[in-house]
Amino acid sequence: MGTAAQKKKLFVKTWGCQMNVYDSQRMADVLAPLGYATSETPEDADMVILNTCHIREKATDKVFSDLGRIRPHKTAKAERGEKMLIAVAGCVAQAEGDFILERAPYVDMVFGPQTYHELPEMVARVQDAAGEKRIVNTEFPTVSKFDLLPVEQGVHGPSAFLSVQEGCDKFCTFCVVPYTRGSEYSRPVNAVLDEAKRLIDSGVQEITLLGQNVNAYHGEGSDGAIWGLGRLIRALADIKGLHRIRYTTSHPRDMDDDLIAAHGEIRQLMPFLHLPVQSGSDKILHAMNRKHKAELYFDVIARLRAARPDIAFSSDFIVGFPGESDTDFEDTLKLVDTVKFASAYSFKYSARPGTPAAVMKGLVHPKIAEERLARLQSLITGQQLAFNQSFVGQTMPVLFERLGKKQGQIQGRSPYNQSVYIEAASENLGWIKNVLIQEGFDNSLRGILA
Ligand code: 5AD
Ligand code: SF4
Repeated sequence: MGTAAQKKKLFVKTWGCQMNVYDSQRMADVLAPLGYATSETPEDADMVILNTCHIREKATDKVFSDLGRIRPHKTAKAERGEKMLIAVAGCVAQAEGDFILERAPYVDMVFGPQTYHELPEMVARVQDAAGEKRIVNTEFPTVSKFDLLPVEQGVHGPSAFLSVQEGCDKFCTFCVVPYTRGSEYSRPVNAVLDEAKRLIDSGVQEITLLGQNVNAYHGEGSDGAIWGLGRLIRALADIKGLHRIRYTTSHPRDMDDDLIAAHGEIRQLMPFLHLPVQSGSDKILHAMNRKHKAELYFDVIARLRAARPDIAFSSDFIVGFPGESDTDFEDTLKLVDTVKFASAYSFKYSARPGTPAAVMKGLVHPKIAEERLARLQSLITGQQLAFNQSFVGQTMPVLFERLGKKQGQIQGRSPYNQSVYIEAASENLGWIKNVLIQEGFDNSLRGILA
């Protein structure tokens, strides 16, 4: 490792899922021993990393337009005889590595989600005496990056992400994840517990376990057995000082009995689950290769509600998937109407190059997809508002994380991950406090300290 004599500025911009947020923090951890400290702006940075997302449309365009904005900063530095390294990381990098280097000659490094632990070597190589080396690193190494990353050291608020599983073997026909993140990998139990303990020692009270398919977790335990997510959550709940546990994102098919039971038994496991279903039509679910019918989803929801009556759900939906008829779409609306979600995300289908759905027939006219999206979103927004308003007059524990948008406000999260804001002193930040809810909106709640 080089000496950290002079502090260098690192700017990281993150798109996409929480896994990318976690990865960005770990990239900063890897670069810290080289003297890089993160900064809030790209101006004057010694290194800029764009950590990209490829899941939905226009991903590549967005990266190029951001690169275009960063380029003048690099030129300005070069005119002063200084260097700015520009790196593109994440899933767009994984999918479009060579194309990025070709189209943006000022980009120095392109690397995928599985190789960022090699950043020190990559930096050394681009800074090599000749000075003109550029790097594409989109391998899927045989040794997991988790075995090679340094101990995490980022500064955390009271809530932190912990990556326990990565990659996906499900191959939903619309999705790039199996190609950009690779096949399923679960970190060993001890590695997860050790990271959790360090986070808790540093003041973290809430941990969100991350994985593209987190409930397919099957990590090796110290007893040599393979542990599922339910068992891992039980072990985490035994660590003193951890008050809240969440996990995301899950697949309905991987909700096993033990995990469902854990929802009823583990007090720290929050009563809120993001469980994407994508569509309510069996025909579309089949075409999406989700490998289950709507019935299974209803069954899983019912079992979770039996285990934990106050549990609430969110989901992801795709409208306008190839072949989606009016009736198929009506089935999605019916599903939403039956389940009643606390919140949900809905997207217009976008063909991702290289995925099986990209060559499917029966394209839905963009105007129809747009109309369906608007109808679905209005149904969901109504449910979200009703859910939020149902807490008015009730007291709920809120973990306060940050200052609010307006002066004198602080903001936190309820057990249902609702954003709650109150007027209170900033010394409440970092603590779980009871809040009397006074008003519910589409995306937030307002209250007072109880
Ligand atoms: N088009 C539209 N939405 C997509 N998603 C994933 N791939 C696509 C695509 N090709 C959505 C899914 C997934 C969420 C993270 O993004 O709903 O659950
Ligand atoms: Fe993509 Fe399907 Fe895997 Fe989720 S389960 S990451 S949607 S392939």
